[in-house]
Amino acid sequence: MKILGIESSCDETAAAVVEDGVRILSSVVSSQVAVHHPYGGVVPELASRKHIEKIVPVVTEALASAGIDAGQVDAVAVTQGPGLVGALLVGFCFGKSFAYALDIPWVGVDHLEGHINSVFLESPCPDFPFIALLASGGHTNMYYVSSHTRIECLGQTFDDAAGEAFDKVAKMIGLGYPGGKVIADLAKNGDPEKIQFPRPYLDKAEFNFSFSGLKSAVNRYIQTHPDDYKDQVADIAAGFQASVVDVLTYKIISAAKAKKCQQVAMVGGVAANQHLRDHVTAAAHKEDITVFLPSVELCGDNAAMIAASGYYYLKDNSRPAGTFDMDVYSRAKRK
Ligand code: KG4
Ligand code: ZN
Repeated sequence: MKILGIESSCDETAAAVVEDGVRILSSVVSSQVAVHHPYGGVVPELASRKHIEKIVPVVTEALASAGIDAGQVDAVAVTQGPGLVGALLVGFCFGKSFAYALDIPWVGVDHLEGHINSVFLESPCPDFPFIALLASGGHTNMYYVSSHTRIECLGQTFDDAAGEAFDKVAKMIGLGYPGGKVIADLAKNGDPEKIQFPRPYLDKAEFNFSFSGLKSAVNRYIQTHPDDYKDQVADIAAGFQASVVDVLTYKIISAAKAKKCQQVAMVGGVAANQHLRDHVTAAAHKEDITVFLPSVELCGDNAAMIAASGYYYLKDNSRPAGTFDMDVYSRAKRK
């Protein structure tokens, strides 16, 4: 079954063709980073407008590089939420219309489940059940995954997401948007021990997160060192990153132990962070836990993960097929 995946929940317009939930025939991602960079964050109205410009060329390119025409698509999977409503509507309405025109089934996919199912697009991939940590710009959630579609949320951030903290810290030190990659690059030249930022573990026995206090601690450091913080940005970046990495590593390993899972996966944009990947891998190794990390291209938003998730919904009828009165949703559904 060849599924056309469509993703437009935030600042990437993406389309992909995936066969049987596992073989990526094409995956096209058009990033709006340059549009939002001057504003230090995503501007929703600009995001919607850019999606409108890009959706047709991106889908056209995805079909062409998969070597198929529209008539060979068996079903459509499109992100339904969570995300920016105006942005979601562009992909969602396009996906519905495409399916209607071709008279093929379509399904609305949860973006967060898409990230989790991204680990099945490469091999080796985990067996069920496993623990998944989703760390992105909008979410930091811990999951117990019993099947492609049965996913229980064990905990989440009470305030900022991990990626959001990277983005806000980058903005504070004048590095623009998005911040994850620039902070990670800057941290390579810094000393992570020089400035000690707090480790927000909250209740160590639970799998919730809080990053806004850490972000405020970085802000306080900048405010109290107005004359010399600019000479210390690499140490600030390294100290901040070390704190986030310690917390995420501690939590994913303790979730695996609590749930007696010997397999963990880390997904979402922040999972592209090499320091985090190395840290989690080393900590898991000590506990005889296997770690599954999508390649960097599949950590960030993409439509291949949406097509993969959609495949499992369609295959086991675990979601009602799309009907034209369905709408997008902005906030994560509590699982
Ligand atoms: O999953 P994603 O592409 O979009 C959302 O669903 O939010 O994640 C984007 C987030 C941004 O906050 C970005 O700064 C962060 O992922 N990110 C990183 C890295 N690359 C992207 N964070 C830390 N280190 C990185 N290398
Ligand atoms: Zn995402």
